[in-house]
Amino acid sequence: MTSKIFDKAAADWDQNSLRLQLAKSVTAAIKNAVPLSGTMCALEIGCGTGLITTELAPHLKNIVATDTSGGMLWVLQEKIKTQSLTNIETLQLDLCADADLLASRSFDLIYCSMTLHHVRDPGAVLQKCRQLLAPAGFLAIADLEKEDGSFHGDMSGVEHLGFDPAKLAEQVSRCGFAQVNTARAHVITKENVQRQVRDYPVFLLTARG
Ligand SMILES: C[S@@+](CC[C@H](N)C(=O)[O-])C[C@H]1O[C@@H](n2cnc3c(N)ncnc32)[C@H](O)[C@@H]1O
Repeated sequence: MTSKIFDKAAADWDQNSLRLQLAKSVTAAIKNAVPLSGTMCALEIGCGTGLITTELAPHLKNIVATDTSGGMLWVLQEKIKTQSLTNIETLQLDLCADADLLASRSFDLIYCSMTLHHVRDPGAVLQKCRQLLAPAGFLAIADLEKEDGSFHGDMSGVEHLGFDPAKLAEQVSRCGFAQVNTARAHVITKENVQRQVRDYPVFLLTARG
């Protein structure tokens, strides 16, 4: 269901300047918070068209870019071909349902941006991340701070109206992660469905395995 919505959005996804600005800020915040290195294997959950993954790839050994939407992954695969990106592997996967596909692997960095609010059970995703993260690996989650429901024009596929960063940090700690931190990474300023121009802050939560 959610994948169909994103399949439709995929072709024009990168035409929205607000999304490009957000991805730029989140990429910068991850680079600032995580000491990236050419020895690290990374996993992105909900990579979309790869706006963040294509920027992080030169700084990492390799990235497994996952998404439930084949349409989004197709756009990323085209970028991989045209930009000759050799260290990104794409995988159509719902981390909650199909995590066995990754069972034999472990990652030094797991990250996602604007994905968690589309997931019904964020706790299940955090548990999977805990299992897949190498000891002392890094978790980085960017998402909307709590909003009043005016951010999305179409609410299909929206499971959460953002998150309280402090509460999510507690949940992440309870899952067994260490050094949990949150900081504001970006503010999306846009006209919402009620035609009001509003600020929608986005946090970056980081933690260690
Ligand atoms: C708002 S988009 C963000 C895309 C990308 N991270 C970006 O910043 O441009 C959310 C993405 O999460 C994906 N997604 C939603 N639920 C998912 C799940 N359970 N597992 C993996 N990906 C999921 C969607 O298909 C979509 O590509």
